[in-house]
Amino acid sequence: MKKILVTGGCGYIGSHTILDLIENGFEVISVDNNSRSSTRLLEGIEKISGKKVKNYKVDLCNFDDTHAIFQENADIIGIIHFAAFKSVGESVEKPLLYFENNLVSLINLLKCVEEFEISYFVFSSSCTIYGNPDKIPVTENTPPKPAESPYGYTKQMGEQIINEFARANRIKCILLRYFNPAGAHTSSLLGEYPIEKPQNLVPAITQTAIGKIQTLEVFGDDYPTRDGSCVRDFIHVCDLAHAHTLALQYLLDNRNQGYCDVFNLGTGSGITVLEAIRAFENITGVKLNYIIAPRRPGDVIAIYANNDKARQLLKWNPKFSLDDIMLTAWKWEQKLKADEKLFTGRDFQMN
Ligand code: WQD
Repeated sequence: MKKILVTGGCGYIGSHTILDLIENGFEVISVDNNSRSSTRLLEGIEKISGKKVKNYKVDLCNFDDTHAIFQENADIIGIIHFAAFKSVGESVEKPLLYFENNLVSLINLLKCVEEFEISYFVFSSSCTIYGNPDKIPVTENTPPKPAESPYGYTKQMGEQIINEFARANRIKCILLRYFNPAGAHTSSLLGEYPIEKPQNLVPAITQTAIGKIQTLEVFGDDYPTRDGSCVRDFIHVCDLAHAHTLALQYLLDNRNQGYCDVFNLGTGSGITVLEAIRAFENITGVKLNYIIAPRRPGDVIAIYANNDKARQLLKWNPKFSLDDIMLTAWKWEQKLKADEKLFTGRDFQMN
């Protein structure tokens, strides 16, 4: 079987992608230092697929430890690189943490790709590379503007590093620009484990609904948008995961157009923060307690994808709706609470 190394495999998108790869016939190993994840999601993968996934608990910023993984697995043909810090808000407060973690880990990995002649490299990029776009929806040719956060800069720089690396080494790479990943696997055995208070909107919504957060803050309703709140393109994590499998297949089939093809992975529709809140309330019947708070530094006003290229070239057809996102996210949150009660016999502390 074709062996793939998934970095950040214990994380939210990484775990869903590992499952999709297994379901499509790939053999997968994970590397994840579990600094912001746990191996519980690998247990979920095993329950769903019957496959036990090996995780190397290694920090990719440590070159020797990273190199040892490749020495032990000479049959790796491809890498999907998720491992990175990803909070826009946190990156504004801790820029050096983000530049060091996200860029040193990438460079160490690429050194191993070069030495061990790995054929395929798929990079988890982000719509944040577009900054505040003048025109939406954005296509892959929309010129990147200055990023709005250090997180966004690490993705812009990551893309440039990979571009130059792919050209010099003639290694087939793909850059996947995610919009806003959200939702959970329909089994509720995989989902997002926010280790601390969630930065992202959908887990903040579900934690408010379940009572872990008392009041949801909407960061600004005075933006130049249809209802004053920011616009985003929420993509279901299972649709996003499947796009990675299709991207690998695209490279394996030699359909790539160059050495570093780029794809937007969004639904193609923009939803405001307040519309997302209403969608959650309508589909779950749970009323959300929220207030309007000041704008959050680093936030982009409005962005959503033109996803024609991924549909045509990767044969990708996202199938989950915004309602599916909210419903699967809510089921996952309720499962977390049931598990927590199971293990600790208590409800969440109201914080
Ligand atoms: C979305 C909107 C907030 C929380 C994310 C990922 C990043 C990248 C791009 C993949 C903003 C508002 C949020 C809250 C709120 N994805 N919000 N109250 O910033 O678009 O970035 O997608 O690489 O990794 O972080 O997502 O969910 O943090 O914010 O009002 O409690 O929701 O202001 O307008 P963002 P987000």
